[in-house]
Amino acid sequence: MNFIYVNMQAKHLDEVAELDRQCFTLFWSRNLFESELNNPNAYYIVAQCEDKTVGYCGIQTVAGEGSITNVAVLPEYRNRGIASALLERIISYGKEKNLDFITLEVRESNINAIKIYEKFGFERVGTRKNYYSDNKETAILMTKQL
Ligand SMILES: CC(C)(COP(=O)(O)OP(=O)(O)OC[C@H]1O[C@@H](n2cnc3c(N)ncnc32)[C@H](O)[C@@H]1OP(=O)(O)O)[C@@H](O)C(=O)NCCC(=O)NCCS
Repeated sequence: MNFIYVNMQAKHLDEVAELDRQCFTLFWSRNLFESELNNPNAYYIVAQCEDKTVGYCGIQTVAGEGSITNVAVLPEYRNRGIASALLERIISYGKEKNLDFITLEVRESNINAIKIYEKFGFERVGTRKNYYSDNKETAILMTKQL
């Protein structure tokens, strides 16, 4: 299977919103993704397989700092390196933009995601208690210096 990685565009919004709904309990609306397309401080990449959107990753940048909003891959396309490829590109983007560091929050139970982030050099720097509104789960705050 071949995957390609392209900047998110308006034509991807329906599929990205559906993908998010499948991947998260607290998912984003299509409108939210659309507003990210119009946000000059946001950058999103999608992974495509034969014209189908199978994953995405986004980052928001403010004053030299990046914050990964999310990374998600459709269940049937996982464990093929798609999230890794997306993160690699988002980190390269951060370097091109001369960001000092990139942060993210991840549920403390999300061991798979934490492992990926650690693989890319993100380090645990703190926690945010009661961060997720659905089950009051703690978020692990991770940072990667660029
Ligand atoms: C987390 C997620 C994005 C990973 O996507 P993916 O495309 O399957 O990830 P990759 O194939 O790039 O895997 C990369 C690494 O993840 C880890 N990993 C992935 N799946 C794993 C599994 N089932 N068990 C253990 N480790 C796993 C491994 O460390 C792997 O590294 P390796 O390739 O060196 O072995 C995907 O599972 C997902 O969409 N989950 C739901 C949404 C989510 O939780 N997003 C993160 C929010 S912070």
